[in-house]
Amino acid sequence: MSRIFVLNGVNLGTLGTRRPEVYGTMTLDDIERLLRDEFPDLDLEFRQTDFEGELVGFIREAAGSDGLVINAGAWTHYSYALHDALEAVDVPKVEVHLSNVHSREEWRRLSVISPAVDAVIAGMGPYGYVAAARYVLGR
Ligand code: DQA
Repeated sequence: MSRIFVLNGVNLGTLGTRRPEVYGTMTLDDIERLLRDEFPDLDLEFRQTDFEGELVGFIREAAGSDGLVINAGAWTHYSYALHDALEAVDVPKVEVHLSNVHSREEWRRLSVISPAVDAVIAGMGPYGYVAAARYVLGR
């Protein structure tokens, strides 16, 4: 059985009520359910934290898995710590954003974690998580 980590960073626990016009109305629990329905045979570690160091720990844990999908939230744009943690983990890695970060504020266009992952998905909403998991599983 394949085991993958789906990691969510800061503020993603407020999905559903946070700027629904940008992020949609699905909660993070809904997104987890979507993945579990889509991949019933997958050993899925689905996590969220508002603490950067905790996310670093989750990334390290994923080293023993078949891959990871990460939506780092706002940390995407400035956390070299997450970049370095991702760089050190040799599994397939996909960065996901619900919104199209390139069509929003200028500062969201920069991701400091992108150089440390294999692929980036932005703007597909919750389906981006499904697409990312599918890619990881196909690697
Ligand atoms: C986000 C985009 C980020 O810029 C933002 O800070 C988030 C969510 C997204 O999923 O679209 O928290 O990662």
